[in-house]
Amino acid sequence: MKYGRSILAGVEGYVPGEQPRSSGVIKLNTNENPYPPSPHVLDALWSLASENVRKYPDPVSRLLRQACADRYGYPGPEWLIAGNGMDELLALAVRTFVDPGDTVLSPYPTYTLYDTLSALHGARFVGVDLDETFQLTPAFCETKAKLCFLPRPNAPTGVAAPRAEVERFCRAFDGVVVIDEAYVEFADDTCMDFPRLLDNVIVMRTFSKSFSLAGMRLGIAVAQPAIIEEFMKCKDSYNINMATQAAGLAAMQDYDYMLGNVAKIRATRARLTRALTDYGFDVPRSQTNFVLAQWNREPSAKAIFEALKEQSIFVRYFAARRLEDCLRITVGTESEVDALLDALREIIYGVERAPAAE
Ligand SMILES: Cc1ncc(COP(=O)(O)O)c(C=O)c1O
Repeated sequence: MKYGRSILAGVEGYVPGEQPRSSGVIKLNTNENPYPPSPHVLDALWSLASENVRKYPDPVSRLLRQACADRYGYPGPEWLIAGNGMDELLALAVRTFVDPGDTVLSPYPTYTLYDTLSALHGARFVGVDLDETFQLTPAFCETKAKLCFLPRPNAPTGVAAPRAEVERFCRAFDGVVVIDEAYVEFADDTCMDFPRLLDNVIVMRTFSKSFSLAGMRLGIAVAQPAIIEEFMKCKDSYNINMATQAAGLAAMQDYDYMLGNVAKIRATRARLTRALTDYGFDVPRSQTNFVLAQWNREPSAKAIFEALKEQSIFVRYFAARRLEDCLRITVGTESEVDALLDALREIIYGVERAPAAE
């Protein structure tokens, strides 16, 4: 395109998972929560008076940030910034800390948006391979960069690096570390306390997964106030619309409701993992609301993905190194998982029941 910036010629653009609009689809491809958000969220949305929507929203989402500060044990809203989805906050991190030509570091495989955002900014992106169990390696820890995106737990592997190892890495890293905790509510522990102690760490969360609010687009970053001040300079003036601020606040105030949904998803995850293992998949221990099912036999993972799609069951397939033999499957409701397992059994074994595990 003759009018585009020259840099764009080398950028593919991020490709989100499919969002089929037809009904009757079992959607296990974009890690949405299968359960609805707190009923208080819907009450808050209904009560947005038309008189209010005439005006601009609070540009700095103060009530929401205060509620998150209280929940996460921080002194006040100056430790937090809200984003239009965590994706906006990830982009802000690049805009705030990276000059064109600087290096951005991530493990590989991981969330591909990090690479895209860096490329769009003219930065050099370095993805350092995780080991065969999807853990961090010495080579990763020794790589120098201006900014590091470190998702914990990681996507699409579902695996979390040990907290102590992440802390050691952050202390040694000469740059800013974004710990992406998009899935942390499904995990055993968190690094949310790190920003209190470490001035180079930003912890990010999203309302898209555990809080069932992917459609509202809301994320939060926690860091020392000096970092938040820089972020504030770079964000859009009214980045969080009024409805999203109200929904996020209501969801945060009904935290136990979210924890109830998370408990259900963790139980279903355990059952799904056991069943997939019985079918012959290798499934690394997931600390997220999805599992990475590894399968290096016939029919190929890609063929299974396509056969499931024909039955209106959507999972995620990545045609990328180290992921060609994998399906990433979101943990759905119990009945969605039953339907998936029935279909998989039929596709793989052509029989109504899988052979008993050895
Ligand atoms: C690792 C990771 N980080 C961030 C995000 C983005 O979250 P949001 O919906 O808040 O933009 C996702 C979404 O799938 C994700 O997988």
